[in-house]
Amino acid sequence: MQATVDNKRFGPWAVITGASSGIGREFTRQIAASGIHVVLVGRREKSLAKVARECSEQFHVEHRIVAVDLSKDGFMTTIVDTTRGLDIGLVISNAGSSRSGLFLDKPREALTERLRLNSLAHLELAHHFGRTLTGRRSGGIIFIGAMSADKGVPAMANDAAAKAYVRSLALALHEEFKPSGVYVTLLAPGPTDTSGLAELGLDPKTMPMTPMKVDQCVYEGLSALARNKSIIIPGRLNRMMNAIVPAAVRRAMMTKLFSKASEKSREQASGHSE
Ligand SMILES: NC(=O)c1ccc[n+]([C@@H]2O[C@H](COP(=O)([O-])OP(=O)(O)OC[C@H]3O[C@@H](n4cnc5c(N)ncnc54)[C@H](OP(=O)(O)O)[C@@H]3O)[C@@H](O)[C@H]2O)c1
Repeated sequence: MQATVDNKRFGPWAVITGASSGIGREFTRQIAASGIHVVLVGRREKSLAKVARECSEQFHVEHRIVAVDLSKDGFMTTIVDTTRGLDIGLVISNAGSSRSGLFLDKPREALTERLRLNSLAHLELAHHFGRTLTGRRSGGIIFIGAMSADKGVPAMANDAAAKAYVRSLALALHEEFKPSGVYVTLLAPGPTDTSGLAELGLDPKTMPMTPMKVDQCVYEGLSALARNKSIIIPGRLNRMMNAIVPAAVRRAMMTKLFSKASEKSREQASGHSE
């Protein structure tokens, strides 16, 4: 699946965070395929360079690489310096990660760091590029949230709460930026087939639902932005689940799904305290 991105509205340059793998890498590919130059952001410089090289060879677009840790203070300075002089029309605020495990089993510093990555980084990007985009009176931002985040997710409490912030921010900015001709869409995926699943301790082969293909997830996100939809949950089955399964049942399902991972994390924590 391959979206066509309107180069006039969303070009000539796009910034994609978390471009080194998974959903961000696929965004980079589909955006570059429409002839839009790409700025790839993430920590793993070699992986970013590989994705960038492939896009340039295949689609003849230019690229810039920004190797930064979005959970650390001051990362925005590097992004601002690298994008100075580029006419940015599209921002994909995607970088993030989730680890399953019980809240109290995790060190407070680790939780704080992840909160910075999964919420504050979106704020920083939206504030800087929001000004640029509304100033040029065209363009768009896609924020990547998560399907069930606003309902509370046991064994992923902090990461899901951060995604609830992203959801609320995106929905509000959708309205605020509308008069300036800037489109804002929240892409709220359900389980999607990326390395992010392994980080959660989930194996696609043993999950109750087959995870969504990453190209479909990205295609639906870009298509929703083109129509300036405020929010898209990719996949008909995900949309149905989200509409009909009560939040309490969903939390019970999540507890069951992550129980093994939580058990493992508890064992690790007790091992550390011995
Ligand atoms: N896969 C799913 O089932 C699913 C479901 C709902 C929502 N999501 C969301 O989708 C987004 C993409 O996840 P994914 O599934 O594509 O996972 P992924 O393959 O692990 O990709 C995560 C990306 O985020 C970047 N990243 C992580 N920590 C970073 C940091 N501290 N600083 C800069 N970049 C960082 C990674 O790049 P580096 O390692 O190079 O830094 C990587 O490119 C995330 O926001 C995730 O929460 C995923």
